[in-house]
Amino acid sequence: MLTLGIESSCDDTAAAVLKDTDTLLSSVLTSQDQIHTRFGGVVPELASRSHLEAIVPVVNEALNRADIRLQEIDLIAVTQGPGLIGSLLVGFSYAKALSCVTGIPLVGVDHMAGHILSVFLEETQPEFPFISLVVSGGTSSIYRADSFTSFSLLGRTRDDAAGEAFDKVAKLLGFPYPGGPIISREAESGDADAITFPRSWLEKESLDFSFSGLKTSVLNHCNREKQKNIPLQIADICASFQEACIEVLVEKTLLAATLENVNSVVLGGGVSSNPRLRHFMNQRCAEEDKKLYIPRPSHCTDNAAMIALAGIHFQNNDSSLSLGSDVYCRSSLT
Ligand code: KG4
Repeated sequence: MLTLGIESSCDDTAAAVLKDTDTLLSSVLTSQDQIHTRFGGVVPELASRSHLEAIVPVVNEALNRADIRLQEIDLIAVTQGPGLIGSLLVGFSYAKALSCVTGIPLVGVDHMAGHILSVFLEETQPEFPFISLVVSGGTSSIYRADSFTSFSLLGRTRDDAAGEAFDKVAKLLGFPYPGGPIISREAESGDADAITFPRSWLEKESLDFSFSGLKTSVLNHCNREKQKNIPLQIADICASFQEACIEVLVEKTLLAATLENVNSVVLGGGVSSNPRLRHFMNQRCAEEDKKLYIPRPSHCTDNAAMIALAGIHFQNNDSSLSLGSDVYCRSSLT
């Protein structure tokens, strides 16, 4: 079975061809980082215009690299939501048109389901049930996964997503977008104990996140140092901020595993390519006797391979699309 995956929910245009559920024949992605970097974040209108230019060449390149003709494809899987509406519409409309002219069945995929299932693109795979922490520029959520199509939302951010907090802190320190990878690089030479930034635990046993206070706390620290004419210790600020953010992500994920009595933990989303998060989660899971599964970095960030894989599992789950189907901006996973 050959599945063509298409992803355009935010600022990456991606397509992939997956054979059955385990052989990735191609995975192509064009990033828009160069376009958005001077604005310090994703500009939705520019993102959708750029998807329009990229979608046809990216899909063709995925088919070429896989050495597959469109007529050989058995299923088209496309991200239906959540994301930026204009961006989603480009991939979604293109996939609908492809399906309409070829007669290939079309399935809509929730982007979050793609991130949760991306670990099944790897050789070492978890057993159900597992706890999934999905952390990206648009979300920070904890799910319980009971099967390939059954997920329960246990907690989510009440304000900024973790990646958004990394990007905003990077911006206030003068770094370009996306700031997450730059902060984590700077943090390597910094002291994580240099500045005590707040950990937002919220109510007892809450699995929700809140990162806007942490971001404001970094801003206040910088302003105080500037008023005293003290040069900013950039590496220390990055390391201390990163530690505050990651400690909360790790401890709440482990709390979810304990409360749900689940032994496996899975990471997904762009922030899970952060080396400190991977290391700290690994260490804490070992201490708590939990098994940890992390996809390779290119499967953590947005990609179309995870959409193709999720599409295969959801095709029998009433997720087939018609011409009248539409995109959505809030996740359908509750
Ligand atoms: O999942 P993703 O590719 O898609 C979006 O949500 O757009 O995640 C991108 C996010 C950005 O906020 C980026 O700054 C963050 O993931 N990110 C990181 C790292 N690499 C990417 N955050 C922290 N540390 C990293 N190494």
